[in-house]
This record gives sequence, C-alpha cells and structure tokens, in this order.
Amino acid sequence: MRRTESERFPIGDARKKDIEDRRRGSARLGSVPEFLVRLYGYYTWINSPLDKRRPEDASAMINTFERVLPKGTESMVAYIEDEFKDEEDPLTFAELGGNGSAIAAELTPGRFGESYGVDLLGKKRSKADKMRNHHILRGDLLLPKTYDQLRGSLKGKKLNLIIERMGRGMEASPDSVKTAAALLQVWYGLLADNGMMFVQIPTKFNVLLLKWADLLKQHYGDTIEFRYTLGTMDMRAGSQTAFYLKKKTGAPEHLPMFDAKTAESIVYPNG
Ligand SMILES: C[S@@+](CC[C@H](N)C(=O)[O-])C[C@H]1O[C@@H](n2cnc3c(N)ncnc32)[C@H](O)[C@@H]1O
Repeated sequence: MRRTESERFPIGDARKKDIEDRRRGSARLGSVPEFLVRLYGYYTWINSPLDKRRPEDASAMINTFERVLPKGTESMVAYIEDEFKDEEDPLTFAELGGNGSAIAAELTPGRFGESYGVDLLGKKRSKADKMRNHHILRGDLLLPKTYDQLRGSLKGKKLNLIIERMGRGMEASPDSVKTAAALLQVWYGLLADNGMMFVQIPTKFNVLLLKWADLLKQHYGDTIEFRYTLGTMDMRAGSQTAFYLKKKTGAPEHLPMFDAKTAESIVYPNG
C-alpha cells in the first residue's frame, strides 16, 4: 500500500530527530579517509569542488553534471565562467546542501563578488572563506526561515548560480513530489536573469522529469534552457538524475510545472 505523505516524510518531532541524525551523519563525512571515498565513490562527499583535481577524483561535481553540459565540456568552472562572460557586475552563487567553500575557492578570484553555502551543518567560515566573501548559513532547506535568512544576506540581490548535489538527491524529502516541487520553485525564484542552476534530483522522479522537460521544451524553450540526464542511483555520481536550467531574459516569473495532483499521478501511477 502507498505510504502517506507524513509516513514518507517525517514531520514534527520525528522530523527534528531525522534532521539531527542527518546533521551528525554529515558531520562525520569530512573525516572519512580518502581510500574509502575512492572505494565507495559516493556519500562521503562533503564540500566537493566542481572540477576534478585528479582524473580519479570521485567526489567532483562534474561527475554528476557532465551529462547536462554540452558534449566535450571538461570543466564546469570554465563552462560557468564562459556563460557569464558578458555580465559585468560581480556574480553571486550559492551551494544549497553543502558549504560551498571548495567551489568558492576554485572560481576565478573576484569573478563572484560574494557566495553562500547553505547546509544543515553550517560549519564555521575559514579565513579563506572570509577573504573570498564566502558565507556559510546553517539551515534546513525545507524551512522557509532558511530562505528568509539567505534573502536577508543577499539584500535584494539574486543568485547567478545555484548548485545542489546532496548525494541522495533532495535527501531530506526523497519521495515527496510536493516538497521537491516547492523547493525548485523557491530556488528558481532566487535566480537572477540569465542565472543558472545545476540540480540533482532523486531518480524516482525520472518519469516526471522526462515529462516536465517536454513541457518546458514545448512551451518555454526560447526562455528556459533545460538539459537533463536520467540516472539509476541517487548516490553514485556517474548515475545520478540531474538537470541544468538557465533562466533566460523573458523567462516566466514562476517555474512552469505540473499541478501537484498531475505530478503525483505521474510518479505514483498506481495511486
Ligand atoms: C552527501 S553531502 C554532499 C555535500 C556537497 N553538496 C557535496 O557534493 O560535496 C549532503 C549534504 O546535504 C546536507 N543536507 C541534507 N539535507 C539537508 C537539508 N534539509 N537542508 C540543508 N542541508 C541538507 C548535509 O548536511 C550534507 O552537507
């Protein structure tokens, strides 16, 4: 029998406990020995860079997103910076579900005037973070107050780049269509004109993603650039489901999506 929303997604005290367990689990990831990272190639990621530093680097985000980049693209950093080459103002990015420090460190100094990592852990900023004007906010991405805090820090500015790669997709709401849709809507609202996002979503939304991509292509293809890849495993970088979205000038204010009932019936056709 299909589980109810609150069975699939804990609320109240159960949610608090769930979040605390995640926070503790995530806090241990940073001290996992390198050989285990290589052995498992997943879920030991924390503070991953966009690009590989060495060919065998399993944690780099490009392992997840290379299939949504134009064929032959070897560097996410180069791709992103090239996409923004005509933007004169300093850019702003946020990693959601990660502290973003490694990304801030690998982007060309000064190209991004300020940046953010939003994470349950909210680790302390390093000296290097401070020098780069990189901020780390501790918060649950599923709570509106986390976005109030981010918007407060942005002081009216929007984000040019959003990266989310939480390993198990939107791991705190793995099979709630409604929650995932609400999150994407908020993230889209945070994006500036010509802003882009790289997002990993759970593989269980594959069919929905396929249909959604069709909808975007058919009706919004001239203002929303969208590329996706369908994966089979949420926790393995080369096999994750992910998309790239660019909100071009003239794109709709709200992210076009199926209504909740239609989306639910696509993901759970048997009710
Ligand atoms: C496997 S780590 C990946 C970290 C980073 N994105 C990377 O690729 O290296 C998953 C991260 O998501 C964060 N996270 C999970 N659920 C979250 C939530 N509801 N709100 C904020 N952060 C969350 C965890 O604290 C952890 O840092």
